Amino acid sequence: MAYGIYPSYMDFTRMDKLAVITGATSGIGAEFARQLAATHKVLWLIGRREQKLNQLAESLHAQYGSETHVMIMDLSDESVIEQLAQQLEEQAQLSILVNNAGYAEDGEYHKMDWHLHQDIMNVHVTATLKLSHAALKVMSESNLGTIINVSSVASFLPTPSSPLYGPTKAFIRSFSESLALKYEDRNIKIQALCPGFTTTDFHEKIGLDPDSFYKDRGIMRSWSSEFVVKKSLLDVEKGKIVSIPGWNYKLVVMLVRLLPISWILKMISGQEASHRYSK
Ligand SMILES: NC(=O)c1ccc[n+]([C@@H]2O[C@H](COP(=O)([O-])OP(=O)(O)OC[C@H]3O[C@@H](n4cnc5c(N)ncnc54)[C@H](OP(=O)(O)O)[C@@H]3O)[C@@H](O)[C@H]2O)c1
Repeated sequence: MAYGIYPSYMDFTRMDKLAVITGATSGIGAEFARQLAATHKVLWLIGRREQKLNQLAESLHAQYGSETHVMIMDLSDESVIEQLAQQLEEQAQLSILVNNAGYAEDGEYHKMDWHLHQDIMNVHVTATLKLSHAALKVMSESNLGTIINVSSVASFLPTPSSPLYGPTKAFIRSFSESLALKYEDRNIKIQALCPGFTTTDFHEKIGLDPDSFYKDRGIMRSWSSEFVVKKSLLDVEKGKIVSIPGWNYKLVVMLVRLLPISWILKMISGQEASHRYSK
């Protein structure tokens, strides 16, 4: 492969290094695996759907000769997160961690079983905290490494239909911003990736028909995982702490930050009413 295709944030002496991706089974996580396979010899692909992960691992091995490790793990289980964190701490060759596993719940807060709330907090918050903690122990030794924590444009907004989605994504973003500033002078890059609508398995899992959901969205058009991941990795290279792929979502976030909060809440309340009506 030509020298020029490697992004400059990759250290060439670390070409045998390890990329760890949670939620690598589909969508944005699988795309991170595909794009990082070109620059990382060893990949840990973490998720629950074994068959899909094995297919991805085989295709990356065939295309790039990558050493791919499929790890079937449910990150809603704290003991599994702990086990993964311990394994991570032992990986001196760790180069990049992508905390990507995530999903949205759908329902009224009090009607959902408490364990569902605990599960999403573990997948989004506990896993991100614990795995970042373990990764930084390794990265601080070499003063080199990258952590990408997948947040969302929803981190800037309330999400009434998915009561813990927006709040947990806001936590991920704020946590990443804080860490990024703390570690920037050590050459450890930390990014909060905030995609808007992206065409993946995500919306189908909450009962939305992908064929109609992604169609004719106007300014709220969705982007491909390929585009989102490419932008994220370019933004790491540029040193951007918050990455918002797509001009339309940059505009949305800018407006959300400029407009009075009462307007934003009123707008979301209107959307929520039509969501209730359409159910
Ligand atoms: N799609 C969007 O519009 C959008 C917008 C903003 C942010 N995001 C964020 O992007 C990230 C990736 O989502 P996606 O859009 O690519 O959707 P996706 O295709 O559904 O991917 C979600 C990934 O998370 C994994 N996952 C979910 N629960 C898990 C658990 N308990 N343990 C381990 N892995 C788990 C899934 O793997 P298994 O099913 O194999 O476990 C899957 O690989 C999420 O954090 C999501 O919140 C998505």
